[in-house]
Amino acid sequence: MMDLETGVLIIGGGVAGFRAAIEASLASDVIVVTKESIRESSTLYAQGGVAAVLGDDDSLAAHRDDTLAAGAGLCEVSTVEAVVSEAPERIRELVTWGSEFDLEQGQLHLTREGGHSHHRIVHAHGDGTGKEVMSTLIRRATSSARVRVLEYTFAVELLMSDGRCVGALVQDRKGGQCRIWARSTILCTGGAGQIYRETTNPEIATGDGVAMAFRVGAVVADMEFVQFHPTSLYMAGAARHLITEAVRGEGGYLVDDRGERFTFRYHPAGDLAARDAVSRAIVQHLADTGQPCVYLDLRPIGPRAKTRFPGLDRMCSLYGLNILEDRIPVHPSAHYMVGGLVTDLSGRTTVAGLWAAGEVAMSGLHGANRLASNSLLEGLVFGRRAGSTASAENAGHPRQLPLDATSAESREQRLLPSGILNAADMRNSVKSLMWRRVGIQRRGDQLTEARQRLEGWKNFVDQVQIHDPVGHELRNLLLVAWLVVRAAEWRQESRGTHFRTDFPEGPEERFRIHSLQSLQGGVLGFPLR
Ligand code: FAD
Ligand code: SIN
Repeated sequence: MMDLETGVLIIGGGVAGFRAAIEASLASDVIVVTKESIRESSTLYAQGGVAAVLGDDDSLAAHRDDTLAAGAGLCEVSTVEAVVSEAPERIRELVTWGSEFDLEQGQLHLTREGGHSHHRIVHAHGDGTGKEVMSTLIRRATSSARVRVLEYTFAVELLMSDGRCVGALVQDRKGGQCRIWARSTILCTGGAGQIYRETTNPEIATGDGVAMAFRVGAVVADMEFVQFHPTSLYMAGAARHLITEAVRGEGGYLVDDRGERFTFRYHPAGDLAARDAVSRAIVQHLADTGQPCVYLDLRPIGPRAKTRFPGLDRMCSLYGLNILEDRIPVHPSAHYMVGGLVTDLSGRTTVAGLWAAGEVAMSGLHGANRLASNSLLEGLVFGRRAGSTASAENAGHPRQLPLDATSAESREQRLLPSGILNAADMRNSVKSLMWRRVGIQRRGDQLTEARQRLEGWKNFVDQVQIHDPVGHELRNLLLVAWLVVRAAEWRQESRGTHFRTDFPEGPEERFRIHSLQSLQGGVLGFPLR
């Protein structure tokens, strides 16, 4: 591969990456790299929808308040207000670009999910929202001659010159490496659900963006907050398919092995409590009853369930389940990385020349827990903002490649041959450790044990020469898992998605602060903006 250069380099092509590309291409040439095919991303699998105030009885204040309530005291109010106010425009824009959202009597049909006080979730093809949003954004972005997409191109490290990010070192499927020099770089690499054994996330979600940026000095925040979705399919040998919360919004509910509804015993909002509360209710109920899973009962929805949730219907029938008759076995799984790279209202990270948008970022929108369907929305809003400022601000920077550029990779000395590392085996060990010790319920001594183990594995892997994406992903997973554990150990309270059985009482005022981590050292508490 030959070295390339561009105005804006976007690493990742989900909702955030392609929305950023559309905006950046108005003023710059753009390269988007995706490590798998152009469509493969968490965005593709999104079912429930996108949250936006579009109903007559709804208000921006209500969307703001629901977001703040889910965030449990750690949302940045300025971010929340910016995002909810921009939401209706971002949806209308998608409709203009050809998104076919579901309608009822000629109006957008709005559904409801946990934590929302109103019906405000726009969806497409029943439970196929992600596919529709991706198709629209890819079509729009690739219609511009200024946008070039490089699929199956893995970003290994960011390139730095004089404290500024100047692009990335990438690797193609054949192992060929090249440098992509960029005046601005935007990370849109999505989440890190793959650090857990049980996850709704696709294989691509290995936290590469957080890891790459952390290694060149970016500040990350609130990594302890990992959202667990209450309902993923739980059958031996089956993938942990997500079953959308909209199922409960439309009248389905959770029952235990005796067919009894149990969620109201644990939270007054029952099945429609925020997902951290529902996930904990399930885990607690399973511990009390000794059962392996609970069940979703869609029968109250009636025959409409098949047309409202066609993807779910198809998926269940593959496993021999009839959604009109059978109860679906479910269990919580890791779903969403709430923390990430600290960004401002334009998506700038703390490293010059580097932006971040979507799940990789900590924009301040979600606080300690994300409200359902606010994530695609965040990708649309911050993708646009990052694309716009990254292209506007790069005009003053030289196009020429800096001769002194380095990457974290080139600075490191790797001594051990790659053959001594069984990356697949270690990846499974990390996932298993994180699930057992850093899951829905956490305890100080178990977190410490997990951190020490991760440090041992990380130190070993950091000495091994790595030549392929599997190895790079393992390195990234280990770093991100370690950042999660360190922050979880530091936060000695229960708040949002982070539940400590040794501090079960709930949020404490002294911890109404973000957890910050950087190359400089340990975890620091930082007040809200
Ligand atoms: P992604 O869509 O995950 O895209 C990441 C991109 O980065 C991919 O193109 C990938 O190839 C690329 N990439 C990663 N690392 C590298 C690398 N090293 N080099 C090159 N490329 C790289 N949210 C909602 O709001 N509503 C929903 O209904 C909803 N449902 C969901 C259902 C499921 C099953 C899942 C998993 C998530 C759901 N979410 C939902 C969450 C939401 O889908 C994600 O948070 C969001 O799509 C993330 O978008 P993104 O653009 O940040 O990243
Ligand atoms: C779901 O459809 O339940 C997932 C929605 C989300 O993650 O926001």
